[in-house]
Amino acid sequence: MIVSRLTLTYPGKPPTLKNISWRIKPGTWLGITGSNGSGKTSLLYCLAGLIPQHIPAKITGETLINQSTGIVFQNPDFSLFNLTVAEEVAFGATADVNRAIKAIGLWRFRNRDPQTLSYGEKQKVCLAGVLARDPEVILLDEPTAMLDYQSSLELYSLLLKLNRQGKTIITVEHDTSLLYQFTQKTLVLDKGRLAAFGPSAKVLKNKALIKRLGLRPI
Ligand SMILES: Nc1ncnc2c1ncn2[C@@H]1O[C@H](COP(=O)(O)OP(=O)(O)O)[C@@H](O)[C@H]1O
Ligand SMILES: [Mg+2]
Repeated sequence: MIVSRLTLTYPGKPPTLKNISWRIKPGTWLGITGSNGSGKTSLLYCLAGLIPQHIPAKITGETLINQSTGIVFQNPDFSLFNLTVAEEVAFGATADVNRAIKAIGLWRFRNRDPQTLSYGEKQKVCLAGVLARDPEVILLDEPTAMLDYQSSLELYSLLLKLNRQGKTIITVEHDTSLLYQFTQKTLVLDKGRLAAFGPSAKVLKNKALIKRLGLRPI
């Protein structure tokens, strides 16, 4: 995945992403962090092909993905509209639906109405749905924002398993200690600019940078 001199401008606004360049190898787990409004979701939507195809914006530069992608939105309710978990995961599936449901630990919920599940469980239904389409890259926007630390660890352990099976994982994440523990690369955005990109251990140990951007120290 190569992003080269990417600049993104929503209609009538100053640029939201400014001249961003980075690349990762297939199979990498990349974390994206930065303060609110720094452009994390916009970057994720570019990688998912939602911008400019579904959300209008002007893009210059290049994003060479060359891999199939699947996205778990920050709000799981955006994606849930079927009557049972099994139907939800089966929607648009190209891979084994039961296998995806089991892999995410949702087998006991397979006949439940997704709307009756907790936020974290709904998110897992979305993840199972993505898995059932078997994309090479899985993108998640702040998947732990509404989870307690134990559930966050559980979700990240699940993602680690998928990463070890060869999936490229990209998580937008505020919890820098999770990024430090689990990801290989970290990208930091600051008001639409690339403030840092590199091995997570190195980037997240940059105390001056973390402090300057008001991020949580590890
Ligand atoms: N669809 C959109 N149209 C216009 N402006 C948008 C849209 N989505 C996001 N923005 C603006 O882009 C900036 C970055 O937003 P976002 O990518 O959501 O950042 P983050 O995820 O880091 O909080 C914000 O100023 C936001 O208002
Ligand atoms: Mg966001």
